[in-house]
Amino acid sequence: MKPLVIEHAKVVTPMGRTALKGDQMGKLNVIEDATIVLTRGRISYVGDASKATYYKKSKVNLIDAEGRVVLPGFVDSHTHMIFDGYRAGEFAMRLRGATYMEIMNAGGGIRSSMNRTREASGKKMAAQAQIFIDKMSAMGVTTVEAKSGYGLDFETEKRMLKVINNLRKKKQKVDIVPTFLGAHALPPEFQGRTSDYVDYLIREALPEFKDLAKFCDVFCEKDVFELEDSRRLLEAARKEGYELKLHADEIVTLGGGELAGELKAVSADHLLHVSDAGIKSMAENGTIATLLPLTAFALKEPYAPARKFIEAGAAVALATDLNPGSCFSGSIPLMIALACIYMNMTIEEVITALTLNGAAAVGMADEIGSIEVGKRGDLVMLDYDDYNMLPYYVGMNCVNTTIHDGRIVSNN
Ligand code: NIG
Ligand code: FE
Repeated sequence: MKPLVIEHAKVVTPMGRTALKGDQMGKLNVIEDATIVLTRGRISYVGDASKATYYKKSKVNLIDAEGRVVLPGFVDSHTHMIFDGYRAGEFAMRLRGATYMEIMNAGGGIRSSMNRTREASGKKMAAQAQIFIDKMSAMGVTTVEAKSGYGLDFETEKRMLKVINNLRKKKQKVDIVPTFLGAHALPPEFQGRTSDYVDYLIREALPEFKDLAKFCDVFCEKDVFELEDSRRLLEAARKEGYELKLHADEIVTLGGGELAGELKAVSADHLLHVSDAGIKSMAENGTIATLLPLTAFALKEPYAPARKFIEAGAAVALATDLNPGSCFSGSIPLMIALACIYMNMTIEEVITALTLNGAAAVGMADEIGSIEVGKRGDLVMLDYDDYNMLPYYVGMNCVNTTIHDGRIVSNN
């Protein structure tokens, strides 16, 4: 593969190999008229054109950015993109006033996608996922996290994780990070026996799936998996070698943020109803707050308190939560607009949240998330020379070209 060289780029990037916290999130490194050299999939040079090591123009693939902004590839660090069973009917019920939990308690929600997913072949799920992947790549995503959690039985969870791992092995437009979310809902076989189900997850599922998933996640929520069950599961998962994530304080204030900090989870996600103590616990323990504004928007719920997290010195990441229920959207452009307009994040903070902090939320900040020598050649070139276009052009895709592993994967 020829090296890829981008000339006349306006490089905009957070810096470092760990998540940026608090006011550090707003500090981006900007290099005007930069040259970027990608060799064998990695960034081998970024900086002044005059100091770039000599390359013969005929021996490289050359892009003239003409002053356009080049950012690190976006990391969507929270999705449920593998499933079967759309729930447009439930969305219509929500528009008529039903709540997410009412639908779930009436046997719909995650359970209805579970029924369809149990019936679906791996091939079908992979084909559907491929459609999401093509769209996310066009919006600048180069790494995505994908959760299991619509099987809730051994075979289907395993099939979902295999789909994720197989997609990953195929040279894809995006890298995919697998998460085991067996504790997404209580399956019908265990009705009324939450603790028995957690026992099963600990005894049978966790040991069996540890080579298929990097993270273990839990829907820590009132009447789903409450604090003690979540703690028990996550402590066992850590012993098996998983890194930890939680869906925390999404629907009500339960103490998920506090638990996440206490367990030093890599991230706690959602946090629409997090308490001040939860924010403090996460900030003190370095647990990333992964905020999902598209879900708040789609559920007509108040947005998570992004400013409070940042003021408390926590690291914030942003992700889509693409799933068939609470939030059937993977729109990076709309997410950026919501974060700026309704969560009062600055665009600089949003860029950090979607790149370096997203990378940290999938445990890959030493590898991706910023434009620095040695990191993977994952880049996004915008149509414009000003990154303020991102929130301003509301809900519209500003991405011109997406580069993953040093090669062009999407060209709009
Ligand atoms: O992140 N809250 C739990 N899980 C998903 C929704 C899953 C679904 O409704 O299918 C979420 O919001
Ligand atoms: Fe989720």
